[in-house]
Amino acid sequence: MKIIAANLKSYHTPSSTQKYFHTLESKLASTKAIQHEIIVFPNMACLSSNSFCYFQIGAQNIYPAINGAFTGEVGLEVIDSLGINYILLGHSERRKILGESLSNIKDKFRFCVKNNKKILLCIGEDSICMSDSELYFCFENQLQGIDLNYSMLYIAYEPVWAIGSKQTATLEYINKVKHMLRNMGVKICIYGGSVALTNAKEICEIMDGVLIGSASLEANNFASIIEEII
Ligand code: 13P
Repeated sequence: MKIIAANLKSYHTPSSTQKYFHTLESKLASTKAIQHEIIVFPNMACLSSNSFCYFQIGAQNIYPAINGAFTGEVGLEVIDSLGINYILLGHSERRKILGESLSNIKDKFRFCVKNNKKILLCIGEDSICMSDSELYFCFENQLQGIDLNYSMLYIAYEPVWAIGSKQTATLEYINKVKHMLRNMGVKICIYGGSVALTNAKEICEIMDGVLIGSASLEANNFASIIEEII
């Protein structure tokens, strides 16, 4: 069983997202997708009912409250009303561009645990030339306060330098990090960062799955990658 997730970031409109969902659903109907965990994280403004058979809709973010005076944020009430179970937390774009802190992420993590959500928590280093001890320190810092024994926690290892750069980490490098994370107590670990049709299968042979950005933006491309993996 592999976890294959698409992060649509701030691309697509509500109508093109619906088109995406329906295209993906019909493409996956004739595959073994049902035996895997396929998740699509649409633009937050394009969230809709989690009602497809072959994939789950997830939320790219959550505000850790049921509802309230939190302008521009989406709380649990909306997520639950759509039947959404998966939440993406700590993406590097949220950490860097939107200033999400370790403490914000910890609060969201605890809130999601309390509400029985499946969590994809993104972690990753900024630079390609870190020593093993620097890497270890970076992951330890990002995992502070995160209960690694939470059974519905998936760690998405996304080296920041590999995101949107078309420079995927080598299999050897990914494998090294996987072992480092396993030694720290990480149980389920997927990879993200320039995953494409050409490398998704081999990455899935050493990881529990993949989190895909640009190569997933078209439903047909995402479906082809899924078929390649499964
Ligand atoms: P790319 O696949 O475009 O590198 O993006 C990865 C990512 O940020 C997924 O969350």
